[in-house]
Amino acid sequence: MMQPMCLWFTGLSGAGKTTLSTMLHQRLQQQGYRTALIDGDDLRQGLCSDLGFSAEDRRENIRRAGEVASLMMEAGLIVLVGLISPFRADRDKLRQRFAPGQFIEVFVDTPLSECERRDTKGLYARARKGELTQFTGISSPYEPPLAAEVHIRTLEGEMENQIETLLAVIQTRHIHPHLVNATRKSSAAA
Ligand code: ADX
Repeated sequence: MMQPMCLWFTGLSGAGKTTLSTMLHQRLQQQGYRTALIDGDDLRQGLCSDLGFSAEDRRENIRRAGEVASLMMEAGLIVLVGLISPFRADRDKLRQRFAPGQFIEVFVDTPLSECERRDTKGLYARARKGELTQFTGISSPYEPPLAAEVHIRTLEGEMENQIETLLAVIQTRHIHPHLVNATRKSSAAA
């Protein structure tokens, strides 16, 4: 059976959620999995363009992303979602929304100092100057997961190994479509 699931990447802005989820998406597709990628920055351009960064708006942002993920899972996809999702309560609520084992929390753990040093979008500098308010890590909290299924310390080890870890997590929970066919063929032959 296909086992749809949601891998939920949480972490600071600039932690590497998009990089990791995009790479994993490509690898899964190469292996024949049907996957979808949902990125916070993309959602905020469209479906969630009415939302800001207050606690309530983030909660709603996360709720919508979770609902979209759920619909995609009903279509049989493995869904990869990358959102800061800074509040533990919001992530716990999400987990309850899904069947046991179908929600895999992936903590993309990069120290704030490193995210700020990279500052790829220049947003940390703006937040420090007070041009951006409620900025996660600066003027709004990030509550790290206490028991994420996967904890990736991005500064330790190779990204390739981190991707392998994620692939292994998926493969232990998912019977690959090719394997389903192989099982059917061998039982038909027997
Ligand atoms: S979440 O908190 O609601 O999960 P989401 O992942 O959708 O956040 O959006 C985060 C992205 O919005 C960041 O990567 C950054 O580019 C941008 N952004 C703009 N303002 C803020 C802010 N105040 N806090 C965090 N991210 C912000």
